[in-house]
Amino acid sequence: MAAPSASRGPVRGDLISLADLGLGEIREIVQRGVEFSRGERSAEPLAGAVVGIYFRKTSTRTRTAFSAAALRLGARIISYGPGDLQLNTGETIEDTAQVLSRMLDGLVCRTAGSTEELRALAEPPGMAVINAMSAHEHPTQALTDLTTIQRHLGGIDGIRVLYVGEGNSTAVALALSLTRFERTELHLRTPPGYGLAPAVREQAERYAAESGSVLRETHDMAELPSDVDIVYTTRWQTTGTTKPDPDWRRTFAPFQVNEQLLDGYPNAWFMHDLPAHRGEETTAAVLDGPRSIAFDQAGDKMHSAMAVLEWAL
Ligand code: CP
Repeated sequence: MAAPSASRGPVRGDLISLADLGLGEIREIVQRGVEFSRGERSAEPLAGAVVGIYFRKTSTRTRTAFSAAALRLGARIISYGPGDLQLNTGETIEDTAQVLSRMLDGLVCRTAGSTEELRALAEPPGMAVINAMSAHEHPTQALTDLTTIQRHLGGIDGIRVLYVGEGNSTAVALALSLTRFERTELHLRTPPGYGLAPAVREQAERYAAESGSVLRETHDMAELPSDVDIVYTTRWQTTGTTKPDPDWRRTFAPFQVNEQLLDGYPNAWFMHDLPAHRGEETTAAVLDGPRSIAFDQAGDKMHSAMAVLEWAL
């Protein structure tokens, strides 16, 4: 007797870490995101598909972006909140994956923990798993960011970014993608003790060496790059995380993107992955100012999610 197998048709790919994708695939997804932002699409390419939207952590942008993207592409969605699956009562990730992969074509998942949970969900064939943010990496954020950069600056090769803030899942994804493009510069200014994990930095440095790009991380604001195209920051209190040091705000205080900092880069755009806390990582004058593209960036989450779903499914 033949072994039972998952019943779904073949899917193109999982998106769990940007390190799993080739530069060509990243470029393709970004370009499609730009095309979707212009309203360029064929009618309902995902008609008939069913996509699970499973968020174990809070989300405004990513959950809405993937839900709206799936619906706009013709798929139907099943939405699960943090308390909905039997994972809460002790069912294993592996068993959950076996079940869901027999019913869903794709699963967009924000985990409560590591990227390895997503790899376990992706183990059975047939269901594409998309990382909507794990503790380690937020790959769909970087794909959104690159889409916004391409829209506003006309390309990504040669782009110079100053990233100020925690070396969190957003920073990891940016480091693992921007460094793959040619002649880019990523200058990270992360508070001491809150930088990129060494393994991530080493991998991004290897990418940068191969592409003729630069990745430089320091833990103070003393020496800033002379010029950049983008100044990027992120919320000090990353979604779903806590900081063991009760005095962490004192450590983060010098790492605010304010008018004085932005004035040093008169031609730069300001980006923020949102949600924002005005008065902490940035100021209202910067976030709501004429050089902020943070809300266009948020809108691009849906365009990029459409590109990711089309690519994956
Ligand atoms: N930037 C981002 O991931 O936003 P949400 O947490 O609202 O999805």
